[in-house]
Amino acid sequence: MNQTSRTAGATTRPVRIAVFASGGGTNLQALLDHFQGGAAEIARVALVVSDREGVGALDRAERAGVATRVIPVRGRDEDDVARDTLAALSDAEVDLVALAGYLRLVPAEVVRRYRDRILNIHPALLPAFGGKGMYGARVHAAVIEAGCRISGATIHVVDEEYDRGAILLQWPVPVLADDTPERLAARVLRVEHRIYPLTVEAVARGLATGEAVRPLSLPDAVTFGLVDADGPDEAEVRRALGLL
Ligand code: GRF
Repeated sequence: MNQTSRTAGATTRPVRIAVFASGGGTNLQALLDHFQGGAAEIARVALVVSDREGVGALDRAERAGVATRVIPVRGRDEDDVARDTLAALSDAEVDLVALAGYLRLVPAEVVRRYRDRILNIHPALLPAFGGKGMYGARVHAAVIEAGCRISGATIHVVDEEYDRGAILLQWPVPVLADDTPERLAARVLRVEHRIYPLTVEAVARGLATGEAVRPLSLPDAVTFGLVDADGPDEAEVRRALGLL
């Protein structure tokens, strides 16, 4: 397995990731831990971008010795945000972008230049419970309000619209009878921390070998032990329904 990047041209080196975050940054932390550990030869977090000063994600980046940039978005012209963002990504020689609690729409010009190389994680099973304004506790409150018994996390490629690009991986999480948005959020977040670093690693490995980003297929998911291809057996369904 070629574990270095060809995306940067002749020199081979680990894939360079930028993480965009607007908040506390627990997913950022999971990515930092993963790529400063065993996966360091495949990829590393080279830059953390936030649209806000003073957020936890920036503190986490600084503690990990990773460069940070604050690029404000509110009230600014999209072209200016795009220009600043592209300059930051270019300066840090970024190959792959992972949004992790980034609450802004990525400018269309940035999406165009990094087509299929920007990922996002969303705390529900898209395309349901996504779109503009669907973030944080609102997502989980809507899931509970709708009476869903299953929620989950979705990792997808970012395109020009909120939460709309090709889905790479989804992982189900049960909604329990007495759930509050906070309890459900915490349960989904634990899953996010497991699936995001591994998915970013899978995409980085693909970039390093020149493959296009593609959905993690069911055979991949079976290989990773994520999914039982045969579905539940009758006894499992009976047990779930209280018939056993
Ligand atoms: C996560 O639930 C993620 O799915 C969503 O925003 C939240 C960010 O949490 N996009 P954190 O800042 O990583 O703790």
